[in-house]
Amino acid sequence: MSDILNEYEITSRLKNKNLEYDVIFKKLTDSTNNDAKKYNGKNNLLVVAERQTSGKGRYGRDFYSDNSNGIYFTIRINNCGASGMPRPAIGDITFFPLIAAVSVSQAASSLCNIDLYIKWPNDLLYKSDSGYKKLCGILTEASIEAETRDVSYVITGIGLNVNNDTEDFPEDIKNKVSSLKIISGKKYNRADILCEIVNIFTQFLRMPREILLDEYNKKLLIGVDISFAKNGRIFTGKTMGITKTGNLIVTLENGEETIIQSGEINFV
Ligand code: BTN
Repeated sequence: MSDILNEYEITSRLKNKNLEYDVIFKKLTDSTNNDAKKYNGKNNLLVVAERQTSGKGRYGRDFYSDNSNGIYFTIRINNCGASGMPRPAIGDITFFPLIAAVSVSQAASSLCNIDLYIKWPNDLLYKSDSGYKKLCGILTEASIEAETRDVSYVITGIGLNVNNDTEDFPEDIKNKVSSLKIISGKKYNRADILCEIVNIFTQFLRMPREILLDEYNKKLLIGVDISFAKNGRIFTGKTMGITKTGNLIVTLENGEETIIQSGEINFV
């Protein structure tokens, strides 16, 4: 299986042959989210890096990506982007991570026959014999005009472990993560997987939200026992699904229902 990642391998696989995104490919960068923020072209953008030295995770954490066996990329959707692409409004921002999670999960299913499930809001996990393992993280950032509340751009960074072996990961996360190769024993063409994700992502941007939410709910880990922090207290409950705005519905131990709008949940 050939596995070459470069600008040609990417643009030749994008539907509409690169009409919708400018494409930047880097062998090495600090973070593709940082690159996407610095970009000042008018078009929408796809930045792909073979390796990142300072991959960023949610809540200021690091995302290990200093290894050329994964795919690390950021999609930037500009408010003044290519015609035919939807222009994001402030209420759309929360849907970008959901779109990304569904796109990765659908691509893994169609190209690798691997079921990845979503841990709300947007971690992608595999259920292995030794518990859930994370394969993909998503970090969405946006720039909003303070006066008008107009969205200038939304960037969605996706990091997916593809051809990594267990030894590729640092000691402290080895037991918590996996890759498509570790799961199936097969090596994949990263450009195929990357472009499938981008093509699905682009389709979802144009689709009604109901379809996205239906697809998201199919992949969401439901009925799982979790703990979470709210108003300085720790609660436990069961995941039940998401609301129309992408918030998590949880049934607490006392039977009451509550909605989580942001933050993190932990499996217990
Ligand atoms: C998380 O799991 O906390 C989110 C991880 C997001 C990682 C991706 S890799 C591509 C893009 N560039 C970054 O620096 N982060 C995102």
